[in-house]
Amino acid sequence: MSVTLRIGAKRTMTGTTTTDAEEEKQRKDEECGAIEHKDKFNPAAYLDSFYKTASEDTAMQIVLFFLPGILYRLPQKVRSVLDLGAGPTVYLPIALRDRAENIYTSDYAPANREALISWIENRSEFDWNNVCSWIANIEASMKTGPQMQEDTRKLMRAVLDVNVHETPVVQKVVWSEKDETQTQIPEKFQVVSTVFCLEYSCETLDAYFRAVRSACSLIEDGGFLIQGGVLDATTYNFGGKTFRCHRLKQAHIVESLKANNMSTTAEQGYKFITHDDIFLLISKKLASAT
Ligand SMILES: C[S@@+](CC[C@H](N)C(=O)[O-])C[C@H]1O[C@@H](n2cnc3c(N)ncnc32)[C@H](O)[C@@H]1O
Repeated sequence: MSVTLRIGAKRTMTGTTTTDAEEEKQRKDEECGAIEHKDKFNPAAYLDSFYKTASEDTAMQIVLFFLPGILYRLPQKVRSVLDLGAGPTVYLPIALRDRAENIYTSDYAPANREALISWIENRSEFDWNNVCSWIANIEASMKTGPQMQEDTRKLMRAVLDVNVHETPVVQKVVWSEKDETQTQIPEKFQVVSTVFCLEYSCETLDAYFRAVRSACSLIEDGGFLIQGGVLDATTYNFGGKTFRCHRLKQAHIVESLKANNMSTTAEQGYKFITHDDIFLLISKKLASAT
């Protein structure tokens, strides 16, 4: 089945192209710093704004549309994946379910971690079936949303409390498949995915570089970073709140990857896709120099 990418009005995740009405709405929003994601992020409002129907939101459409073109560059089987700064979302684990053997997910905000746990335990209030149908269409898969989610749930190993501005990045395990004594969280993962997180976790270039360093520190040598985000945005808003973020340029992405021994050329397995200021990339961690 073919899927056409329909670009409508840009979601206000891209703070640079808002309409007058959106600007008026933003003026009335409570303005929050990036650090306030911890206590002010409302998972239900976020999911309703951006994930209710994939076709409603341009950024989401672009990410889901291009994700398969990025994921097919991974090995057929991936031992371990960490979704870093997943928020309350599970579309990455779902999209990775046929390759990944063990999936870890994580976020900085307690409310988001609770949303992730509730999905794993099959008591989520949000209906992921629309997003699953969208993913299935792009994959040309006949699987239903409930089947896709069930297959993914079986691969979920732990939910982690993370902060890309702290060391260690993984602060604690808040849910795990096994009891505490048997829970072993890898120090490094074969794949780290992080979408709409690193530039949203901060407001300065230095802090963005720190966030990328943290993400890359969690990847094994020869492993992969899948990164997505927005270029040139200064804020994003939902649920009556506007969060400030770092205004990301493509040059920041390349510089930060190089600084962390990540590939930035096609010969080394780097691929960067961008559309309407939304980007997705895959980069490989090069073996450390001895
Ligand atoms: C825009 S949401 C993106 C959520 C999800 N990845 C997606 O694709 O929709 C930004 C996420 O970054 C997380 N975040 C903010 N600061 C962070 C930090 N210091 N460390 C890790 N994650 C952080 C927030 O809690 C939030 O869930």
